[in-house]
Amino acid sequence: MTAILIMNAILAVIAILLVIAEKFLVTYGECRITINKEKILTVDGGDNLLSYFAQNKIFVPSACGGKATCGYCKIEILSGGGSILPTEEVFISRKDRLRGVRLACQVKVKNDIEVLISPELLSAQEYKAVVAKILDLTADIKHVFLKLEEPSAISFKPGQYVQFKIPETDEFRAYSVASRPSQDNIVELIVRLVPNGMCSSYIHEVLDINDKIALTGPFGDFYLREDSTRDIVCIGGGCGMAPIRSILLHLKEKNMPRKVTYFFGARSKKDLFFTEELFMLSKEFPNFKYIPALSEPKPQDSWRGETGLITQVVERTVVGNGHTEAYLCGPPPMIDASITVLTKKGIEDIYIYYDKF
Ligand SMILES: Cc1cc2nc3c(=O)[nH]c(=O)nc-3n(C[C@H](O)[C@H](O)[C@H](O)COP(=O)(O)OP(=O)(O)OC[C@H]3O[C@@H](n4cnc5c(N)ncnc54)[C@H](O)[C@@H]3O)c2cc1C
Ligand code: FES
Repeated sequence: MTAILIMNAILAVIAILLVIAEKFLVTYGECRITINKEKILTVDGGDNLLSYFAQNKIFVPSACGGKATCGYCKIEILSGGGSILPTEEVFISRKDRLRGVRLACQVKVKNDIEVLISPELLSAQEYKAVVAKILDLTADIKHVFLKLEEPSAISFKPGQYVQFKIPETDEFRAYSVASRPSQDNIVELIVRLVPNGMCSSYIHEVLDINDKIALTGPFGDFYLREDSTRDIVCIGGGCGMAPIRSILLHLKEKNMPRKVTYFFGARSKKDLFFTEELFMLSKEFPNFKYIPALSEPKPQDSWRGETGLITQVVERTVVGNGHTEAYLCGPPPMIDASITVLTKKGIEDIYIYYDKF
């Protein structure tokens, strides 16, 4: 037994030494990263693709900071990327694997590489901004207003997100834009405090008015399909309010051309926010209905609205008409349960769009 433990310890030390030796002693020399068969980055190999992209102001999203836990940094490799790593497998479908899709943070550049990056990603930029206002929405959710300075305007689709750079670090976190696209010089974010979370704690406890910060974006394929005429069901929970608010404010500007029902789930009344704004919207546009529901209303809430899990409310309220699409945003279990309910109501999964966080 002792011999096995000693052997395992020796193997662990050898593995660590090999990693250190590779980092400091192995050089891969000059490598060429060819992007979309036209742009060439010449780099000293050894680091991962995501880092080289960041150094060259190509902003591939990276919600987990390169830890292979978000799956957001997908790109296509045409040649030179080596084999897919076990850390990537969970994020990349069989079909995508055959196309050469990889996680940029996991692909180490050891030789020349050819990659394809979508034009939308290539158009993402870095924005310098100043904090204009911070409001408390609930005990653990803040509403942050960021005035863009350089460039001074952003173009995004309602529902997309930006990445917030944590000052003095190389870490980024994704936050959905909560404001309307036509307000292109002030980006509003809604940020929930995650206990001990690096970025949300920074935003809640350190960030102050007039602080200078950096954002990158816009990113994401969760956005309003404007060419559709389908009715819309939105389902949100917690900070999942953010992208849906952007979609609703955009539809308001367009005079709410489609029938929209928004279900928002919260525990008790103290977890509801933007209630007045959303009920005002439903008064203004009969086409829009706001249905908040409380799963654990308190006696002092004197709540007369819907109760139960938001999925139960959706189940008893939505009537499938074969002409509906859905936008869902909130915690993963809520999204998974909502997809099951909506599919049962006859909404095809190709018309169900979501962001889970
Ligand atoms: C596309 C996208 C859009 C997003 N939009 C928003 C938004 O509008 N508002 C918002 O508040 N957040 C949003 N997020 C989540 C956000 O990016 C961060 O993950 C979150 O703020 C936590 O980051 P952190 O640095 O504070 O915590 P970290 O330091 O990254 O994490 C600390 C610990 O908390 C855990 N943790 C991380 N996230 C959560 C979570 N959401 N709930 C519970 N535990 C968690 C981690 O596993 C870790 O153990 C979005 C995420 C994605 C991918
Ligand atoms: S940056 Fe999150 S998986 Fe690559």
